[in-house]
Order: sequence, then C-alpha cells, then structure tokens
Amino acid sequence: MRVGIVGGHGKTGRAVAAALAVRGVESVALGRSDQPDLAALAGCDAAYLVAPNFHPDEPAYVASALAACERHGVGRVVYHSVASPYLPAMPHHLGKARSEDLVRRSGLGWTIVQPAVYLQNFDLTRPLLVPYDVHAPFGFLDLADLGEAAATVLTEDRHEGATYELASRTGSVADLAAGAGTSAERVEVGPDVPEGLRTMFAYYDAYGLPAGTLVLRALLGRP
Ligand SMILES: NC(=O)c1ccc[n+]([C@@H]2O[C@H](COP(=O)([O-])OP(=O)(O)OC[C@H]3O[C@@H](n4cnc5c(N)ncnc54)[C@H](OP(=O)(O)O)[C@@H]3O)[C@@H](O)[C@H]2O)c1
Repeated sequence: MRVGIVGGHGKTGRAVAAALAVRGVESVALGRSDQPDLAALAGCDAAYLVAPNFHPDEPAYVASALAACERHGVGRVVYHSVASPYLPAMPHHLGKARSEDLVRRSGLGWTIVQPAVYLQNFDLTRPLLVPYDVHAPFGFLDLADLGEAAATVLTEDRHEGATYELASRTGSVADLAAGAGTSAERVEVGPDVPEGLRTMFAYYDAYGLPAGTLVLRALLGRP
C-alpha cells in the first residue's frame, strides 16, 4: 500500500508517515512544489489531506486536492479537520467545516478526523505562558497518537464514511503544567500576533476547545 500525504512536510504529516512506516506502509509527502497537480498522488491507494495552518481559503485547497485524487485514481481520502469545525467565530475552523462538506460529497471513499489541540504546541519543560485563561477546558492530542489513529484509519476498510473527534486527554493548560511540575500563566497577546491567532486566543479564553477521548481509545484499542 502507498499513501500520499498532501501538506505532508509539517509535524502532522511527519507523525502520520512515521506511524505508517511502523506498519510497513510506504508514504510520499507532497508540499508546495507539488501544487496544483499533485502528480505524486499517481499510484497511491489513499491520500491524507493536511491543509497548512491558517490557509486563507481551505475549501479551495481541499477542493483542488480532491480533484487531484480523482484525476490520479486515488479512491480513498482521509481529511485532517479540527475538533469543533463549525465555530462561526473562528474563520479557520469554519473553513474546515466547509471542507468537510466537500469531502463528504466528493464521491471518493472518505474518513474525516477532527484533532484536538496538539500537546506538542506546549513546551512542558518551562512555565507555560498563554494568552488565554489557563483554566479553560480543552481536549489535547499527542501527535504520536494522531499518527497511529491516522495509520489505522488509512489501512483498514471499516472507517469509510466515519468522522472521528480525536483527543488523548482532557483538561486545562493549568492541568498540563501541574502534571509536568511547572506553572501556567495568562499573558497579554503580543502586538505582532496575526488577526487569526488573536481571534483563536479570544475564543479559547472564553470557551477553551473541549474534545472527548473515547473515540481515540476505541481506535487505538488502548488508553
Ligand atoms: N496545531 C494544532 O494544535 C492543530 C490541531 C488540530 C488541527 N490542526 C491542523 O493541522 C494542520 C497543520 O498541520 P502542520 O502544522 O503539520 O502543517 P504546516 O506546518 O502548517 O504545513 C505543512 C505543509 O503545508 C504545505 N504548505 C504550506 N503553505 C502552503 C500553501 N500555501 N499551499 C499549499 N501547501 C502549503 C507545506 O509545504 P512545503 O512542504 O512546501 O513547506 C507543508 O507540506 C492545519 O490544518 C491545522 O488547522 C492543528
């Protein structure tokens, strides 16, 4: 089996490729230089679609990748969405909600994964300084768990038509810090922080981004 990972050179794609390699599955990472034809998808049995962070038009990026899958005979696609995609207050989440709709109507065999906030976004060897409430509720996802779940979904038939919210653990940034023996503190957003991130931090401050852990446990067959 061969899997094309579109947007595959970032930390997400690398985690998926590593987990596939453990299963003896070959993968090919596609980046900007492969756009828009994505010719390296030819000969792939499945594609894993990752949009770059804060892409200004994720539905267009996903539509183009779905068309490339069709063109190159890739019948199976797994789309890397996000936990709680339908959040009208956050345009980059809404872009994923619209992209999910494109995936579901693509005519390809599809699965959607909705990952929680990556644990690897936090350096637990230092005090955690975040521009939102450190007690806000979150689901957190370990990238190794994401890779394993993605590899499971890509290599088994029974996940077609499924949408899976993925989190390794729940809690707050304060809980993460306490577990790692460090501290957590809310800081002001810096003046150079882009608008999309500001909007995201404001949402996190008010509501966090909760996600559940049971689906990931079921997929991995372990806690
Ligand atoms: N961070 C989190 O906590 C979190 C949680 C849930 C979901 N996500 C989602 O995970 C994804 C980001 O994953 P990541 O951080 O691993 O990816 P990333 O580093 O943002 O992107 C990596 C890939 O995107 C390609 N790329 C960058 N700009 C592009 C453009 N304009 N057009 C086409 N391709 C482009 C890069 O190509 P090159 O190889 O050419 O550089 C690279 O292969 C996002 O969709 C994000 O919403 C993140």
